[in-house]
Amino acid sequence: MQHLTVYGGHRLNGSLAVHGAKNSALPILAATLLCRGECAIERCPNLSDVEAAMVILRKLGCEVRREGTTVFVRADHAVNAPLDYAQTGKMRASVNFIGAMLGRFGSASVAQPGGCVLGQRPIDYHLSALEAMGAAVSDGENGCELHWSKPCDCEWTLPFPSVGATENVLLAAVSAPISVTLHGAAQEPEICDLCRFLQAAGADISGVGTKDLHIRGGSTLRGVRHTLISDRIETATYLAACAACGGSITLQQTAPQTLAPVLALLECAGCTVSTSDTSICLTCEGRLSGFGTVVSDAYPAFPTDAQAPLMAAATLADGISIFEERVFPERFRHAAQLKRFGAAITLQNSAAIVQGVSHLHGAEAKATDLRGGAGVLIAALAAKGESILHDTFLLDRGYDGWMQHWIDLGAEIFYETDEE
Ligand code: EPZ
Repeated sequence: MQHLTVYGGHRLNGSLAVHGAKNSALPILAATLLCRGECAIERCPNLSDVEAAMVILRKLGCEVRREGTTVFVRADHAVNAPLDYAQTGKMRASVNFIGAMLGRFGSASVAQPGGCVLGQRPIDYHLSALEAMGAAVSDGENGCELHWSKPCDCEWTLPFPSVGATENVLLAAVSAPISVTLHGAAQEPEICDLCRFLQAAGADISGVGTKDLHIRGGSTLRGVRHTLISDRIETATYLAACAACGGSITLQQTAPQTLAPVLALLECAGCTVSTSDTSICLTCEGRLSGFGTVVSDAYPAFPTDAQAPLMAAATLADGISIFEERVFPERFRHAAQLKRFGAAITLQNSAAIVQGVSHLHGAEAKATDLRGGAGVLIAALAAKGESILHDTFLLDRGYDGWMQHWIDLGAEIFYETDEE
């Protein structure tokens, strides 16, 4: 086994081109199953989750290849096949194939999705919406079994603006012979990116970017070339690291307008932030001041995926920072790991109260999940001394080329083999 050794305490300086968004790439790769003709997905990040989606597409008879940062998919000869846990257990986004398979084949057999352990992650919102559209849902030995029993026009309201459920409704509806109005839809930029891909392929969707989506189904989708939006969570992660370690970084090919709550918070805490349409420059000199109360909620609120990285920065800020989770109330497994570096964090129901400390010390810790792992790495980078981090393979799920990017920014990190 290997672990990551980190010699912390270095300031971070330099620039970095942000990659295409993981959480756009995954639903859009599922959507290529609906298309006849070749799709080309540009700026597709090289991530283990993206690789897992490509494996699923091949299992369904699609031709899939990567050429640099573009992934090509041809689903002309796709064939329905049950997806077992070996395929679906690697990531949460395998759940998107429920809607895509229903839309393409009229039926789907998909084992329970995997993904980060962030608390309960049921798919009841997905299934009740699909049932309202006329799908029959049952629990099979392989997991979830669905087929169109009586496709029907419907108007449905999601109990929470679930990203995945919104994506599954879109993927199932665009080719079905029905019209669907979805209220309470998620409005994340990645949802808009998926809608733009589907519209370019011939889908009839209106209300994009609002809580009310209207889909007129029945479209046969054609292959398209699509360039993914920037990864706003990758951007937030590097900004949080610079805030924690000090220094000055410029992130290019990003989208500042999708990160307003994060940029505002970092500026209030004492960072200097300047932006252009596609870049963010952040400079952090001296100690941050406490972040106040940070509430993670559905877009356009502060993004839950940035909570752990920003919490790592908050551990060194003067005063109190309170992180309240309204998306994943239990998304605090990284707090115990941050405390190993000397952070002062107490958990209360769905909130974490962080009291800034003068410094963090090196520690042995582990990545708990993708974004929690990013938070732990940031703590190690900011800590004075040597740290040993385990399970950092989890970062490969969501941060393309992260090792080299951190080293290029000044981090002293390298892999070592565990002593027997
Ligand atoms: C997507 O997960 C993202 N993943 C997550 O990013 C992100 O944290 C999340 O949206 C919220 O923005 C991908 O896009 C691949 P939800 P998803 O459905 O779709 C509950 C990352 O690090 N819920 O919006 O699973 C659910 O438990 C990942 O990149 C139900 O109860 O999130 C959660 O509390 C982590 N029943 C809340 O709703 C359902 O049927 C929001 O979940 C569905 C969801």
